[in-house]
Amino acid sequence: MNSNIATSPYTISLKGRDLVTWLDYTVEEVHELLSLASYLKKNPHSKILEGKTLGMIFEKSSTRTRVSFEAGMLQMGGHAIYLNSRDIQLGRGESIEDTARVLSSYVDGIMIRTFETEKVTQLAEYASIPVINGLCDTYHPCQALADVLTILERKGTLKGVKAVYIGDGNNVAHSFMILCAMLGMEVVVSCPEGYEPGKEIIESTMNLAKKSGGSFELTHDPNEAVKGADVVYTDVWASMGQEEEAIQRIEDFKGYQVNEGLLAQAAPDVTFLHCLPAHREEEVTAAVIDGPHSAVFQQAENRLHVQKAILQSVLV
Ligand code: CP
Ligand code: NVA
Repeated sequence: MNSNIATSPYTISLKGRDLVTWLDYTVEEVHELLSLASYLKKNPHSKILEGKTLGMIFEKSSTRTRVSFEAGMLQMGGHAIYLNSRDIQLGRGESIEDTARVLSSYVDGIMIRTFETEKVTQLAEYASIPVINGLCDTYHPCQALADVLTILERKGTLKGVKAVYIGDGNNVAHSFMILCAMLGMEVVVSCPEGYEPGKEIIESTMNLAKKSGGSFELTHDPNEAVKGADVVYTDVWASMGQEEEAIQRIEDFKGYQVNEGLLAQAAPDVTFLHCLPAHREEEVTAAVIDGPHSAVFQQAENRLHVQKAILQSVLV
């Protein structure tokens, strides 16, 4: 056993596992990952991934995901290779299957940010090494783990915490509601008609909430939703790939902006979260995101710690 693991009180082995969605993980595994992330936050440097290489395929832009994965690999003694799909043969039509097989013989793990979830699952199917979803159109699992770590740090607990997501029922909302429900939280999603989370995701979330003793509610009324909220979360109204809908969406999401008026209806010690990047004065006002309740930079920092926990657990 590697000496760095031996000194860590957390010894989960998820060796060889892919991370496409938290639906494939148990609540115990998630708790272990959160504990390991907290440990790594206090003990950032190790050599546990010495000699290990992570390939990072990006078909969409990124600041946080790219830099935190790369820095995380370096902090653990490993190395990361940035692969923009515009530069690799995947972008010119080489198949996912062939890409998966070839990369498996060079690197120890793959992180992919893409559009279709099927691309991530296909890559995972054909690669013989772990594949981590760094965001697709349906999920953003690494973000959600950082979100719940931030909530745990701020509130001291997860069970029974009321987390309200306001805005588009998108990838960030999906992973957030799944993970929060799994961990026994009271999850409320408030979005305009036509922008609800996917039906299957809602179904899975409700089942998870039933099992964990948490709850899930969907409402079109954001004022009703935020009453007594411990956490208020929002994300952009137009995600990557939806740029052409941006103007229509500004119209459709009127009334769903997280501003001081809305936040005033939440619990007095409410925590505001946003995965970033944000559009100030669209989905959130500057007064809120730069205000006293905001934890967005703590949340962004936590991406580094949770991803290191994931990498360490699946690579060794
Ligand atoms: N929140 C997040 O994933 O940010 P990036 O798009 O900058 O990676
Ligand atoms: N929902 C956003 C998240 C960006 C981190 C998007 O997919 O663009």
